[in-house]
Amino acid sequence: MAILVTGGAGFIGSHTCVELLNTGYEVVVLDNLSNASEESLQRVEEITGKKVIFYKGDIRDREILNKLFTNEKITSCIHFAGLKAVGESVEKPWEYYENNISGTLVLLEQMKKFNVKNIIFSSSATVYGNPQFVPITEECPKGTCTNPYGWTKSMLEQILTDIQYADPEWNVILLRYFNPIGAHKSGRIGENPNGIPNNLMPYITQVAVGKLKELGVFGNDYDTPDGTGVRDYIHVVDLANGHVKAIKKLEENCGLQIYNLGTGCGYSVLDIVHNFEKATGVKIPYRIKPRRAGDIATCYADAAKAKKELGWEAEYGILEMCEDSWRWQKNNPNGYAD
Ligand code: NAD
Ligand code: WQD
Repeated sequence: MAILVTGGAGFIGSHTCVELLNTGYEVVVLDNLSNASEESLQRVEEITGKKVIFYKGDIRDREILNKLFTNEKITSCIHFAGLKAVGESVEKPWEYYENNISGTLVLLEQMKKFNVKNIIFSSSATVYGNPQFVPITEECPKGTCTNPYGWTKSMLEQILTDIQYADPEWNVILLRYFNPIGAHKSGRIGENPNGIPNNLMPYITQVAVGKLKELGVFGNDYDTPDGTGVRDYIHVVDLANGHVKAIKKLEENCGLQIYNLGTGCGYSVLDIVHNFEKATGVKIPYRIKPRRAGDIATCYADAAKAKKELGWEAEYGILEMCEDSWRWQKNNPNGYAD
């Protein structure tokens, strides 16, 4: 009885492996290491004192999936594997559709072949586009995405919904993450972006550690309290625990379900800078820059449905998210290359 975690060596995947192992699940990871290091899985084992079964390979590779499903007793899959850089997806749409959509179709085909019909899919608040209202409930209509990455999430939600409708033996949970930050308390696993980070928190921690000079704040003329963009930042360990709760929901034969995983609190870019400084004592120099194409003013969750139906709610506040992001960065200035 094991859980297949695709993309399990990545940021959210590695934290989810820890929580699954700590809850007593066996974990099998499939990851092609295109955006991760095997070291993260060694550290997952070090944190939990438990083994991770690792297959280095691609979700588009039928042969490795066939081998994996033949050898392991998989009951459910948590599907993190995918490319996720918004800007890169605009430059390389084909790669994004091929990796994320074709890859998921191959994975689903092999799951079906082995009669494994339980899947949790990593979706994103990006599917709401510029949301019609905030806080965003799951009933908020999906919107127009501003980049191919976002469309892969939106389209895969539709594909999974149609598959479950056609064959109700499938149990499908679409988890729409808001903005995951933070790291495991041990400081041993965390977010390890390639090159210059696109996302706010890894950019801030790299400024703090001296790798980058200053933060560019993308726009201060939004219709928000201080003019900078407002987001719902969620601790990655809370997010990981949301997956453990979702696995339990799958075990109840839940059909198709959609949940927002967020805290319900919105923080602006400058709120994050100030909270980071307060939590760590490290000053973050910043400069106001033009708006970033495709950004929206405000995005935060109504997370009541996940609380009611999964018994899950975020526990960590913004100061702990900042502290934990910083501990990881400070102890591992070059990520897993240290
Ligand atoms: P990540 O890049 O750290 O993890 C993704 C993992 O998938 C990596 O380890 C990568 O090597 C692997 N991978 C990519 N393509 C693969 C393939 N074809 N076959 C096998 N492995 C492959 O990203 P993350 O932040 O941990 O995100 C995990 C999932 O959550 C992704 O699907 C992402 O789109 C989604 N998500 C992330 C965020 C976020 O802000 N981090 C927000 C919403 C949704
Ligand atoms: C947060 C805020 C920026 C960097 C992205 C994806 C989304 C999801 C999560 C996967 C915004 C501002 C940022 C910087 C800044 N990923 N910012 N300077 O854009 O909310 O969401 O990651 O699904 O799909 O779009 O997150 O961390 O990039 O930005 O001022 O150097 O910080 O403008 O207001 P975002 P982010």
